[in-house]
Amino acid sequence: MTRPLPLTLLILFMIISLIYGWLFMLNEQNHHFSNGSLKTNITILLWHWPFGIQYSLAGDVCLKDYGIAGCHLIDNRSLMESANLVVFHNAELKYRKEHLPLDLPRPASQRWVWLSLEAYNGNLAAYKNLFNLTMSYHPQADITVPYGKLIVKERPSQDFVIPKNKSHEVCWVVSNYQKWQSRSAVYQKLRQNINVQVYGYFVKRPLRMAALLPTISQCYFYLAFENTESRHYITEKLWRNAFLAGAVPVVLGPPRGDYEEVAPPKSFIHVNDFNSTEELAKYLRSLTKDPEKYNAYFTWRQNYTVKLYTDWRERLCNICPLYERFPIKKIYKDLGTWTKW
Ligand SMILES: *[C@@H]1O[C@H](CO)[C@@H](O)[C@H](O)[C@H]1NC(C)=O
Ligand SMILES: *[C@@H]1O[C@H](CO)[C@@H](O)[C@H](O)[C@H]1NC(C)=O
Ligand SMILES: *[C@@H]1O[C@H](CO)[C@@H](O)[C@H](O)[C@H]1NC(C)=O
Ligand SMILES: *[C@@H]1O[C@H](CO)[C@@H](O)[C@H](O)[C@H]1NC(C)=O
Ligand SMILES: *[C@@H]1O[C@H](CO)[C@@H](O)[C@H](O)[C@H]1NC(C)=O
Ligand SMILES: *[C@@H]1O[C@H](CO)[C@@H](O)[C@H](O)[C@H]1NC(C)=O
Repeated sequence: MTRPLPLTLLILFMIISLIYGWLFMLNEQNHHFSNGSLKTNITILLWHWPFGIQYSLAGDVCLKDYGIAGCHLIDNRSLMESANLVVFHNAELKYRKEHLPLDLPRPASQRWVWLSLEAYNGNLAAYKNLFNLTMSYHPQADITVPYGKLIVKERPSQDFVIPKNKSHEVCWVVSNYQKWQSRSAVYQKLRQNINVQVYGYFVKRPLRMAALLPTISQCYFYLAFENTESRHYITEKLWRNAFLAGAVPVVLGPPRGDYEEVAPPKSFIHVNDFNSTEELAKYLRSLTKDPEKYNAYFTWRQNYTVKLYTDWRERLCNICPLYERFPIKKIYKDLGTWTKW
């Protein structure tokens, strides 16, 4: 009975420590494993489907289709409070088809992700201090989602075929032709010096998806002309229409350096490499007459295969492995600067 107070305090202290440690452990399990492995059980809410096209989220999509564990995609807005991240695709916000849930409670730890794969995104002034992360094709985005990429083969191999049955010099698929775009000016001048076979709604010759690659494979060159010339904006026009089809891409878009960051220098021809469209046309024609030089534009295939990204679910699942690397706290004060890249 000599030291009742300190003893009581000591016991109290031990109990508090235990409870605290236990809570901390729970917290650790929720956030990441102490052995440094990634947090699992991340919930990503997609607020609305891009361009209104809905895909099934039944089952563990990320694990089943992409081998990513503990990554849950949901599109049920009533579960917003349980989401670690909420993803908003810009196009629908831009056209006011969808709105940010600014009236709903937003958990402090929840991150809002601004998603766009377009180069032109409209006026983003309304989105100050709302988003924590950006998701875009741009390499400086928090989550970079390219339209495609090259994957290094385990060992160099010749197991690729250069389509031999070429019936057109140059081909182009274009649906939304706008006279004022610089790609249109280049096309108009180019066609005066070389045959350009055009498909798409522009010329009322749309190609079914199944016919797209077989058709382009019959062309020596494909005009992988982007609708907007914006840094790092390189779309499926390069990855799918040209590379996968087996036509050499003639590119118009960001500078050559941006292309070289994602593809070997000798895998494409950049319109800026020429002083005039006449010179470009002359060069293209010379390659059609010189199989050795032409085929040199395919040797990169010894070392790489093309990976195309088309499924929004895959893009969203790929967020999870990055989760631990996101900044603890980040707020985009002004998304408007995004478009100036
Ligand atoms: C880390 O711990 C988790 C959960 O116990 C386990 O699933 C994972 O395999 C461990 N990772 C490593 C690298 O040991
Ligand atoms: C994952 O998180 C959800 C929502 O927070 C929760 O309902 C579920 O029980 C968790 N699952 C696991 C395996 O921890
Ligand atoms: C080559 O292309 C022509 C014209 O499209 C087609 O008729 C022919 O079947 C093709 N031949 C081969 C071997 O693919
Ligand atoms: C373009 O013009 C410059 C200056 O006249 C010249 O040095 C260069 O070789 C030309 N480039 C090509 C690809 O012809
Ligand atoms: C493919 O990779 C090998 C080994 O790294 C290299 O020696 C070769 O030059 C590469 N081929 C091409 C066409 O880049
Ligand atoms: C996300 O942004 C909101 C709104 O600016 C902010 O209140 C919140 O602290 C941010 N959360 C994180 C994890 O960065």
